Amino acid sequence: MNLIFEFIRYQWLAKNRHGIHSPFVYDLSDKCFKIKREKADEILLQEYESKLKSNNSKIHIQDFGAGSRKMGTERLINKIYKTSSSKGKFGKLLYQLNRHFEFNNVLEFGTSLGIGTLNLHLGNPSSKITSLEACPETHHFTSSQLLNQFSNIKLINQTFDKFLNASQNQKFDFIFIDGHHDGNALLNYLEKLKPIAHSESIFLLDDIRWSQSMCDAWNNIKEDKSYNLTIDLFRMGLISPRPQQQKEHFVVKY
Ligand SMILES: C[S@@+](CC[C@H](N)C(=O)[O-])C[C@H]1O[C@@H](n2cnc3c(N)ncnc32)[C@H](O)[C@@H]1O
Repeated sequence: MNLIFEFIRYQWLAKNRHGIHSPFVYDLSDKCFKIKREKADEILLQEYESKLKSNNSKIHIQDFGAGSRKMGTERLINKIYKTSSSKGKFGKLLYQLNRHFEFNNVLEFGTSLGIGTLNLHLGNPSSKITSLEACPETHHFTSSQLLNQFSNIKLINQTFDKFLNASQNQKFDFIFIDGHHDGNALLNYLEKLKPIAHSESIFLLDDIRWSQSMCDAWNNIKEDKSYNLTIDLFRMGLISPRPQQQKEHFVVKY
């Protein structure tokens, strides 16, 4: 996979709201993607991010996914923030999606330092968020931070597989898969997530072009008849079963 070529192709194909004829996708582009964070939310996020950026303490990382071997197992908090968090516009996307759709139950695969979790929470504080993190020290660190103040956020120290193999008694409206960026693992998780999702559930998949295997998985997902809606946002892919609509793929500017 040639990332530069992929990016040029994305830019070429990506439509803004004027070129979109699906009401669902038009609303996403015209309303959801234009949502701005409230001032108080922006301040809270900035304060938490500054704390992480200046944190020079080290934690021991246990990797349960397809993480970087080069970075070693002892990592500085500020490095983890820099390399593994949903910063900038992709953090904002999580906020926007939850504000726009007002999801009741949210599931996040991969808590890390909780930047994605915090964006999701601030976007709609009444959502019940479950976030999984297998690395014990990462989970322990994040659990001792800001997120422990919010009763609607449940941080669980568990692998995705263990969670999926246990029976779950709820359905999730929004599922953010942001860990274990391996194509086969992703397809496997999506299959196992089916019983705890519903026809309108929205899945957001991070790093769909992180590797050849992720790219291949994304191409499979686009063809998969289980998801009538697939949207390419370049770094991320958004998919939903939506059986009431015809199968359609969109490349949308974000
Ligand atoms: C990219 S980071 C998550 C970033 C976070 N979602 C955000 O938005 O800031 C991925 C995290 O997933 C965790 N992870 C990877 N594979 C996992 C697995 N199989 N089970 C549970 N956690 C996993 C890693 O330890 C890492 O902390």
